[in-house]
Amino acid sequence: MTVGFGSDHAGIELKLYMMKHLEEKGYTCVDYGNYDPNDRGDDYPEPGRKVAEAIRAGECEKGVLICGTGLGISLAANKVPGIRAAVCSEPFTASMAVRHNNCQIIAFGARVVGRELATMIVDTFFGCEFEGGRHAKRVDMIMQIEKDYGKTE
Ligand code: RB5
Repeated sequence: MTVGFGSDHAGIELKLYMMKHLEEKGYTCVDYGNYDPNDRGDDYPEPGRKVAEAIRAGECEKGVLICGTGLGISLAANKVPGIRAAVCSEPFTASMAVRHNNCQIIAFGARVVGRELATMIVDTFFGCEFEGGRHAKRVDMIMQIEKDYGKTE
């Protein structure tokens, strides 16, 4: 599986750590930026958008986004039609993000979770599968909102 990674300056160190972790497990990891941890003027919407667009384009199947809180970068990703990105600070929510919400992207904050917790969140996210059934109808209802506002998937 190919996984797209994105972060702003706040998340670069944790992003590189998580990329190495997943590569050791056999995943192909692609870094969509940002790249300079000292550039405090960089902007989280750009990598959030790039990873979401890579998933939409079929370059990646899933994504991992990290900023200070996980909020800004996930909000940007969620603006790309067809994308569902979930901010998670613990593994239970990360499992539900896949099992019930069929999210393609997991996001978290480098200023919120440490390496060990981030690893548990990521391993949980990649270890779960969408359950479909009644959850598929609800995810379809979420995506219908985009369609109702004129966005195409
Ligand atoms: C950057 O200082 C910070 O605002 C950003 O990483 C993120 O937490 C935004 O949601």
